[in-house]
Amino acid sequence: MKTLTDVYTLSNGVTIPWVGFGTWQTPDGQVAADSVKAALAAGYRHIDTASIYKNETGVGQGIRESGVPREEIFVTTKIWNNKRGYEKTRESVEKSLERLGLDYLDMVLIHWPAAPHRVENWEELNKSTWQALTDLYKEGKIRAIGVSNFKPHHLKALLEAEVKPMVNQIELHPGMTQQETVDLCREHGILLEAWSPLGCGRLLDHPFLGELAAKYGKSVAQICIRWCLQKGFLPLPKSVTPSRILDNTKVFDFALSDEDMAAMDAMENVGWSGLDPDEVDF
Ligand code: A2P
Repeated sequence: MKTLTDVYTLSNGVTIPWVGFGTWQTPDGQVAADSVKAALAAGYRHIDTASIYKNETGVGQGIRESGVPREEIFVTTKIWNNKRGYEKTRESVEKSLERLGLDYLDMVLIHWPAAPHRVENWEELNKSTWQALTDLYKEGKIRAIGVSNFKPHHLKALLEAEVKPMVNQIELHPGMTQQETVDLCREHGILLEAWSPLGCGRLLDHPFLGELAAKYGKSVAQICIRWCLQKGFLPLPKSVTPSRILDNTKVFDFALSDEDMAAMDAMENVGWSGLDPDEVDF
C-alpha cells in the first residue's frame, strides 16, 4: 500500500510527493495559513499555489507555523499571464519568494501558455518566459520547472529547449482525460498534475460517482483522487475544511477496478471548468 508521501520522480531526478494540496480560491491570510497547517498536519508534504491566487503570503505563513522543516515540503508557484517574458518572469519569481518568505522554490510553472488567439508572437513569448525559468533553475533558485494548461501545440516549442518542462499541470478528472496532451507528455517524460481533480466540486453529486463511492465504501472525493493516482497523475485537491482535507488523504485502502476506471474515463464531462487555453480571455 502506498502513502500520502510516496513520490513521483521528475525527469531531472527530483522527487515530488504524489498528492499535492491545492489552494486555488483559498483566501489569503488566516484561512490560507490555517488550511496549509491543517494539510501539513494531515500529512501532505506538497503545497501548490500561484501568484494569481493572491494567497502566497498566507501559504508561507502556514508553512512557517506548521513546524514542518522547509526541506520536507515541496512548494510550487506559477507565473501569471501579465508576467510573461524574460525580465518580468524573473521579477515574478523574486516577488513570489518574498511573499512566501522562502529562499528557494521547489517548482515554478508557466500558469497559462501565451496562445495565438490573444498573442501574436505567442511562441516567442513562451520561449522567453521559459528561458527565464531555465536560468533560475540553473542558478539553483528553483529545483524543477514546468508548465500548466499547455496543449500539444503550445508544448512543442519547449520540447526543443535546452531544459524540457518536467511537469504539465492541466485540468484532469473523471470525464476529462485530455488524452492527446497526456500522450505527448508521457512520450517526453513530463509528469501530469491534475488541477481540480474533483471538478472544482462539480463532480461531487454526480449519480454515477455516488454509486461507485457507495460500492467502495468511500466518498466521491476519494474516488476522484484515487482515479488520478491510478492514471499516474498527481492530484491537487483543494479544501479549506479540515475534515475534508483529512478525508482526501484516505485513498490508499482501496483500488478501483479496471472496469470502473474505464467507466470513469468515459463518463460525461460534467466537471469541466469551461476553460480552454486557446479560448480563455485572460
Ligand atoms: P472547501 O474548500 O470549501 O472545503 P477541486 O480540488 O476539484 O478544485 O475542488 C475543490 C472544491 O471541492 C472546493 O469547493 C472544496 O470545498 C470542495 N471539496 C474538497 N474536498 C472535498 C470533500 N472531501 N468533500 C466535499 N467537498 C470537497
